[in-house]
Amino acid sequence: MDIRDTIEQLRKTLTEHNYQYYVLARPSISDYEFDKLLEELIALEKAHPEYADPDSPSQKVGGAVNKQFETFAHQYPMLSLGNTYSEDDLKEFDERVYKQLGHRDYEYVCELKFDGLSISLLYENGKLLRAVTRGDGVKGDVVTDNVKTIKALKTQLKGDYPEYLEVRGEIFMHRPAFEKINMDREEAGEDLYANPRNLASGILKQQDSAEVAKKPLDIFLYQLIENKGLVKTHFESLSSLKQWGLPVSDASRKCSSIEEVFHFINQWDEQRKQLSYDIDGVVIKINDYNQREELGFTAKSPRWAIAYKFKTEAALTRLNEITYQVGRTGAITPVANLEPVFLLGTTIKRASLHNANEIERLDVREGDYVFVEKGGEIIPKITGVDLTKRDPGLQMHVYIAACPDCQTALVRKPGEAQHYCPNELGCPTQVTGKIQHFIHRKAMDINGMGDETVEMLYKNGLIRNMADLYDLKYEEVLSLDRMADKSAQNLIDGIKASTAIPYARVLFALGIRYVGETVAKKLASAFKTIEQLMAATYDELLKVDEIGDRIALSITEYFSDERHIEQIQRLKEAGLQFENTEKEKEKVSDVLNGKIVVISGVFSKFSRDEIKELVEVNGGKNAGSISSKTHYVVAGENMGPAKLEKARQLNIPILSEDEFLAMISI
Ligand code: IVH
Repeated sequence: MDIRDTIEQLRKTLTEHNYQYYVLARPSISDYEFDKLLEELIALEKAHPEYADPDSPSQKVGGAVNKQFETFAHQYPMLSLGNTYSEDDLKEFDERVYKQLGHRDYEYVCELKFDGLSISLLYENGKLLRAVTRGDGVKGDVVTDNVKTIKALKTQLKGDYPEYLEVRGEIFMHRPAFEKINMDREEAGEDLYANPRNLASGILKQQDSAEVAKKPLDIFLYQLIENKGLVKTHFESLSSLKQWGLPVSDASRKCSSIEEVFHFINQWDEQRKQLSYDIDGVVIKINDYNQREELGFTAKSPRWAIAYKFKTEAALTRLNEITYQVGRTGAITPVANLEPVFLLGTTIKRASLHNANEIERLDVREGDYVFVEKGGEIIPKITGVDLTKRDPGLQMHVYIAACPDCQTALVRKPGEAQHYCPNELGCPTQVTGKIQHFIHRKAMDINGMGDETVEMLYKNGLIRNMADLYDLKYEEVLSLDRMADKSAQNLIDGIKASTAIPYARVLFALGIRYVGETVAKKLASAFKTIEQLMAATYDELLKVDEIGDRIALSITEYFSDERHIEQIQRLKEAGLQFENTEKEKEKVSDVLNGKIVVISGVFSKFSRDEIKELVEVNGGKNAGSISSKTHYVVAGENMGPAKLEKARQLNIPILSEDEFLAMISI
């Protein structure tokens, strides 16, 4: 590759990462890796000014939202640990410790290695003053407001705590919470987070703490930094942290020999499957602080501790073919079809390759031998290519240009990783996928109908879209292969009965991109009829709670397509519900008549939903974001700094929870 191509490639990669970081809040590389790439680009641009470009990621802060976290230099750098993968490595570590100390009179403390994000917390007089991410190890982002939303973390210490305290630990997300969030995303047609760590990292970097508060993060502390002779050993420090009310894992054990360490490791390698969160190994630390001092540090990590990483269960197998799947929203996903391989109790035949960038990053080719891992991930993942086994004749993979199903040319929006088939209403997979979504239990819940029936009806030319379902005749259904009288009648009855399904679910059933169940409910209560929703402008949509830029755009785009309007018209004629008939909450007063109110933060007397209801029953309207049209902001605890700043700039009165309650006379 020549210099110019390298520069272009770096710009493309960085733009993609910027998008993932700033817009999706879902980075796929660490800040450190990002900074390294950026440094490389800046150096190349400096050496080759002839290739300067004002649009280069080196010239601006990425994405739609600016990164607004303040950075803070760690008083002591946040180092990493050396990794070991085998008992032999660990024995060597133990021998080094023995040699340096000159005796065997030492103890280890074994702890779980939590698979999350490290964080440093500073407490002053028992109050959480600052929470800083690891960043590049020397300085990190100040994410105090976000960290304060973690329920397990008390912002006020208890007991006999020191005046000034620095503690470090790991923020993570429990697997069930992660799975729930991913399920919601799947329903809304959005791509999934790869693992709880990536999701937790995305959440921690969100700008609005009230949004963070809705996502369940957890924390364990495992390191006391400011040690003014308070305690002599690490194990004691852990119990002090507990006494001060900080969450500390109960799994830590003192071990007086390396054999005991092996026992701890083997026990947790088995038991980790029963934990509700991911651990990726065990951390082994010298217990005595004086001995730690004697052992000291290398340039990167302490000599008094080491991480033992559990073996990631990987397998090597041949990639036979790359095929492509079309989703109901038209998103194209490349799939690796593998020579079947047995891993952790199941046979793996396929793995997702996510998108074109991923194929490019791995430079994976048909015929390659690839490493497949299951790790904590739901979908098996390809982590690399065994280049020693590559047949020199293998061709670089060329990503498809047309839809594998309907041959329409694919599109890829700027900044998006995924390719899409734009033939939304003609591509068979998309059409059947959309109808299958429409009839789903959580949508129109059509009794007597399953995914296969949809496929059969489609293949026989009886349906081309969801509205066609309501024109189906009993005889037509009966004409299908293996369709008995009774089933045909059940199906027709089921379709008829679905016309009573409430408006919010009909909205969800339409399958508008990014409109999942929750968003559909919000839309149905903000816009009482489909006509109101169709007429809603982008700005009006943005005012609805939980509707951001991406969803608002997707909705306006959807309704700007004549074919969608026609389809809705037909569904209306078939008798479907396009009006919110839920009774309006009875009004209590007119105090807030015509006033637009934005709620932000966490409240102590009422929940956010209750506060919103109070706004409505007193005549006001809730909005999701602050604009010049906002009349009041009701601020709870942990309101995001960006929102606060915006409200101040626009001179909008900011009310505390009590002030708001007084205003409506509660
Ligand atoms: S002690 C000098 N204890 O693993 C570093 N780290 O590579 C002291 N981690 O950056 C870290 N569980 O994010 C320690 N029980 C534990 C841990 C732990 C997870 C992470 C941490 C650190 C990385 C070490």
